[in-house]
Amino acid sequence: MVIAIANDHGGTVLKQQLLEQMERNPALEILDLGTDGVASVDYPEYAKRVCTALLSGEAQRGVLICGTGLGMSMAANRYSGIRAALCHDEYTARLSRQHNDANILVLGARTIGSGVAAAVLEVWLKEPFEGGRHQRRISQMDAQDELSFAD
Ligand code: RB5
Repeated sequence: MVIAIANDHGGTVLKQQLLEQMERNPALEILDLGTDGVASVDYPEYAKRVCTALLSGEAQRGVLICGTGLGMSMAANRYSGIRAALCHDEYTARLSRQHNDANILVLGARTIGSGVAAAVLEVWLKEPFEGGRHQRRISQMDAQDELSFAD
C-alpha cells in the first residue's frame, strides 16, 4: 500500500517520527510530499498534494499533519472522494476506519503526544472498513457533494 504524507511547518518534527515508524513496515511504500523544514508554509498546498496523489491512484491512503490538524482537515475534505479524519486517540482512529472508511489520517502535532500519535497511526493503518450500513452513509455523503450555500 502506498501512503502519501505531507505536513506544514507545524508538523515537520512529528512527520519524521511517523516516517521512521512506517519505514519499519515492509507492507508500506511512502510518498513524502513535504514540507521538510520549519519555514512557514501554507497547509492547503500540502493537503492538495496528498489529495491529488489519492485521487490519481498514485497512493491508496494519506497522512496530513499541521499544528492543530484543523486546517489540513478542512482543506482535504474539500476534495470529492476524500474522507480525512482528524484523530486524537486510538478510539477515533479505529472508528474513522471501521465506520467512515477514512482515507486520510490527520494529526495535530501541537495537540497530540508522540506516543499517542504512534499508536493512532498503527491502529489507523491496520483497521479495516466494516462496510454495510456505513457504506450506505458514505454513499449519501457522496451524493451531497454538489450542495453549497447557494442551494
Ligand atoms: C500554523 O501556524 C497553523 O495555523 C497550522 O499548522 C494549522 O494548525 C492550521 O490549522
